[in-house]
Amino acid sequence: MTADTISRDVADRNSDRNSDQNQEKIVRYTFVERVSHWLGAFSYIYVMITGLAFWSPYLYWLAAIVGGGAIARSWHPWVGLLFAASFFWTFREWRGDMSITDADLAWGKAIPDYIENEDEKLPPVGRFNYGQKLFFWGIFYGVILLLLTGILLWYTETIPWSLHWLRFVAILIHSSVALATIGLFLIHVYMSAVLEEGSFGSMITGYVTRAWAWTFHRTWYYDVTGRSQLKPKQ
Ligand code: HEM
Repeated sequence: MTADTISRDVADRNSDRNSDQNQEKIVRYTFVERVSHWLGAFSYIYVMITGLAFWSPYLYWLAAIVGGGAIARSWHPWVGLLFAASFFWTFREWRGDMSITDADLAWGKAIPDYIENEDEKLPPVGRFNYGQKLFFWGIFYGVILLLLTGILLWYTETIPWSLHWLRFVAILIHSSVALATIGLFLIHVYMSAVLEEGSFGSMITGYVTRAWAWTFHRTWYYDVTGRSQLKPKQ
């Protein structure tokens, strides 16, 4: 079911109300949430490009896009810090909406319906769905590991020789966690910017349509609009 079909459905069921209300937009992301998200996104893209350039000689050409190897090497840790700081800022904004509930686990069980694009069969979810929450927590723990190992690699000459094995552990963790977050990042961009029509615009303007909210985050829609839970028309 598309957001348009549901939009008509919602409009039908609320015909006793002023129909203009159905077109009203709902605030999904505040200005602060959008700024912290895009700061995190752009800084992540920079550390991803430079990190991949250091990771494999086959990808070293990527460094040329961002000013060459030497610049990439000196900026990577600083932009990494900016990325961590902006993600922790995002974390502060969203952690209250990201705890995993029983409703999320029920949604998780219905993932085959989600994959087959049968959204109407999915149990209603709050502001974020189970997949979004798993992504958020995956990035959260990823950032902590990247930060700790990154700082170790930044000041590698200060590690005493008796602990030199720490460098190898740090390299292994830093690169594997970075690859895992790149996997999560690609899934995230595809799901939020391509698959869910209307999502990308919400991270730009801050608004979604009522139809979008009802379709993808029904419990949240009822919470923010204060409307009673209407059963979908059979
Ligand atoms: C070009 C890169 C990116 C694009 C186009 C993008 C796009 C979006 C969009 C459209 C949403 C809103 C989704 C919705 O409300 O349904 C969103 C949410 C979110 N973004 Fe991004 N994003 C990008 C990069 C990142 C990065 C690098 C991170 C963190 C490392 C991140 C973390 C999040 C989180 C935690 C959410 C809330 C949960 C979710 O929707 O998954 N984003 N993003």
